[in-house]
Amino acid sequence: MRILVADVGGTHVKLYLEGQSPRRFDSGPGFRPETLVDGLRRESADWHYDGVTLGIPSPVVRGRIAEEPWNLGTGWTTFDFEAALGCPTVLINDAAMQALGSDHGGRMLFLGLGSGLGTALVDEGHVVPLELARLPFRDETFEDSCGKRGLKRLGVAEWMRTVLEAAELLRLSTAADYVVLGGGNARHFERMPDGVRLGSNDRAFAGGLKAWNHARPLPPAWQALRQASADGDPSLRALFAADPARAERFTFTVDALHVDLSKTHLSDALLDGLLTLARASGVEALRDAMFQGAPINTTEHRAVLHTALRHRGTTPVMVDGTDVMPAVRDVLARMRQFTDAVRSGTWLGYTGAAIRDVVHIGIGGSDLGPAMAVQALAPFTGEGPAVHFVSNIDAAHLFDTLEGLSPETTLFVVTSKTFTTQETMTNAQSARRWFLQRAHDPAYLRQHFVAVSTNAAAVTAFGIDRAQMFEFWDWVGGRYSIWSAVGLPLALAIGMDRFEAMLEGAAAMDAHFQTAPPARNVPMLMGLVAAWYTSLRGVTTHAVLPYEQRLARLPAYLQQLEMESCGKRVGRDGRLLPLPSGPVIWGEPGTNGQHAFHQLLHQGTQAVTCDFLVGLEPTAGDAEHHRLLLSHCIAQSEALMIGRDADAVAAELRAGGIDEASTQALVPHKVFPGNRPSTTIVYGRLDPRTLGLLLALYEHKVFTMAAVWGLNAFDQWGVELGKHLAGHIASDIAGTTHAPHDPSTTVLIARAREARSHGAS
Ligand code: F6P
Repeated sequence: MRILVADVGGTHVKLYLEGQSPRRFDSGPGFRPETLVDGLRRESADWHYDGVTLGIPSPVVRGRIAEEPWNLGTGWTTFDFEAALGCPTVLINDAAMQALGSDHGGRMLFLGLGSGLGTALVDEGHVVPLELARLPFRDETFEDSCGKRGLKRLGVAEWMRTVLEAAELLRLSTAADYVVLGGGNARHFERMPDGVRLGSNDRAFAGGLKAWNHARPLPPAWQALRQASADGDPSLRALFAADPARAERFTFTVDALHVDLSKTHLSDALLDGLLTLARASGVEALRDAMFQGAPINTTEHRAVLHTALRHRGTTPVMVDGTDVMPAVRDVLARMRQFTDAVRSGTWLGYTGAAIRDVVHIGIGGSDLGPAMAVQALAPFTGEGPAVHFVSNIDAAHLFDTLEGLSPETTLFVVTSKTFTTQETMTNAQSARRWFLQRAHDPAYLRQHFVAVSTNAAAVTAFGIDRAQMFEFWDWVGGRYSIWSAVGLPLALAIGMDRFEAMLEGAAAMDAHFQTAPPARNVPMLMGLVAAWYTSLRGVTTHAVLPYEQRLARLPAYLQQLEMESCGKRVGRDGRLLPLPSGPVIWGEPGTNGQHAFHQLLHQGTQAVTCDFLVGLEPTAGDAEHHRLLLSHCIAQSEALMIGRDADAVAAELRAGGIDEASTQALVPHKVFPGNRPSTTIVYGRLDPRTLGLLLALYEHKVFTMAAVWGLNAFDQWGVELGKHLAGHIASDIAGTTHAPHDPSTTVLIARAREARSHGAS
C-alpha cells in the first residue's frame, strides 16, 4: 500500500509520499476542506497512492473531526474526505500524527509547539487523543503560555522555562513516562532535561503511516451492536425460561438441514443488531457481487465463482464478459466420461488390468475437500476403486500408501491449482519414479497419471498430456474447489451421478443464501452470530464436533475454509481491523472428544463455541449404536447450556452419603458453570446432497463473517513467508548455501545438516 500523508498546518499543507521529495502548498485562515482536496489533487497528480492520511489541527475523535480547526476556515466537521478523494482516508489530529512518528514505546506525552499547543498521548503505540491546551495554567491557559503568543510575550528564555514547567505538570497529570517536544517552535530548545526529548516535524510522515496502520475506528454498526449488548447477555437458561418457544423460533430448516441456534445467545434484540450490522456492512451487496462474477478477491484481482461450479440452470455466469458455464459443463462431462471408464473397468492399466486403487496427490484445498468427502460418503462408493490420499511431503505418507499397491492397477491423480506446490510436486515425482521402476516404459504413464490444474504448461512439463488434464480456473479458490475437477477423486469413488447430487445440494444452499431474507438466512445468521461471539464476546476458539465417524475430517476441512479465509488482521482496505476476527477452528468426531477435551469445554476458563453435527438416521446400519450416538450428541449441548450449580452438586453428594467436609471440598470441582453456547445441525442421512448442503452452508457462513469484518476471504498471503524461507533453508541444509539466520534458526539448520551428513555416511 502506498500512503500519501498530508500534514495540514495553519500556514501550509505538507505532502509526503515514500520515494518522493515532500511538496507543499499554502493554507491559512478561511482554508476549507474543498480547497485542501483541490490542492492535494493538483500537487500529487503525478503520484500513485492507495490511501491518504490527513493530519488535521483539530480534535479527531473516532475518525471524525470533532471541531472546526481554529486557525483555518469551516466545513471540516461534516466533510466526506473519502468521497471527495475517491480513496480510503484516515483522519488524525496533527499533533497525534507527529506524536506517533516520534514514539519510542512506553507512555509518551507529545507537545506540539506551534502557533497553538497540540497535545497527544501515545501509550504502547496507541494514540490517545488529548485536548489539554485550553486548561488553566498560570492565570491563563497552557496554549497562551506555550504557544506562539507566549513565545512573543515572554521571550525565548522565559518561554522555554515555562514550556518545561508546563511539560512536567502535564507529564505528571497524564502519568506519562516521558515528554516529546515537537512542532515548529521546538527548534528553540538545544538541551533538554531528563525525561524530555526533542521531536521533529519530519516525523509526521512516519506518524501518518503508523496512523494508517492503526486500527480504524469501530464502524457505527459495530459500535451500536456493542452498546446494545453492553449490559451483558441473559443466560441461556433465562432466555429459554422467558421464551420456551425459542427452540422453534431459532431452529431453521434449509432443505435437509435443521440448524438449531436456540442454544446460542441469539435474542430478538441481538438479532436486530446483527441484521443492522449485516446491512451496514453490505453483506447482501457483496454476496450479489460474488455471484455475478465481480472481482471481489481484490488483492489477486480475481472473481470468486465456486458457486458457478454447481450452478444448475441454463443462465450464463459471466467473468470478464465471457460465460464460464460452457467450460464448467465441458469439464463435468469429461469427468463423467473418465470416471465411468475407470469405475466400469474399461479404463485399463498398462498390462490390461482394470484400475483398483486411485492415489490422489495434492495438499491444502487440493486435498482436504475430496479426502474429507470420500470418507464421509464411504457408503456410496459401490464398485468404485479404493481412493487413497497423499499430502504430506514426508515420504512416509507416500510410501506407506503405496505399500501393497500394484502399479498395474493404480491410477495417480495429481491435483494442484498452481502445479508448483513443492509438497505435491515432490510427491508426484516420487510416485512417477515408483511407477516407472516397475512399468519401465514412460509411454505407460498415460494410463496411470492424470492431472487437475489451472496450469496446463506445468502439467505438460511434468509429463502429463494436456488430454489427461482436467481443468479448473483462477476464479476457484483452493479451499472452495471441491466442486470443480478437484473433486475428481471423490467422483471416482462415488460415481458422477452422486458427485452431481452433491453439487445439487450446494446449489440449493446457494439459492437459499441468495434469496432468503437475512432474518431467515441460515448461513448469514450463523456467520453473524459467530462474528459477534468472536468480536464482542472474546470467544476466540470454535470447536466443530461431528458425531458421525465418517465426518472425521470435517474439522480439518473447515479449519482451512475458515482460518485461511478469516485469519487476517487487515481489512480489504489494508488497514488493521478494529476488532478480533477469525477464531481458531478445531475438533474431532464425538464421542471421542468427550473422553479428551470436553473437560475444558464444560469447566475450562475460556469460552468455546461448538457446532454439533449428527445425522438422525444411521449410515452404518446399527440402530442401537445410533441411538446411543444421538443421545451423547444431544446430551453434550444440553450439559453445556444448563450446567450444574453448587446446590445441586452438594445435594447429590449428601444424598450419596458423603460427609459435609468432603462435600464442601468437592463442590467447586463438580460445578458446571453452564451457559456455554452451541449450535446443533441435524439432517436425515449423510448422503451426497446433504454433504453439498452442509459444505455450502459453511462456505456462506464464512463469507458473511468476512463481510462484516471487512476482510478479503479469498486470498491467503499468510502462507507465503514460510514457503519462501523453506526454499532457502532447504539449500542451507544441503550445504549449498549458508544464508544468515537468527541464532536459533542457525543452530536448528546446523543440527539438520549434521544429521544429514551422518545419514549420508
Ligand atoms: O498453502 C496454501 C495454499 O495455497 C492453499 O490455499 C491451497 O489450497 C494449497 O496451498 C494448495 O495449492 P495448489 O493447489 O496450488 O497446489
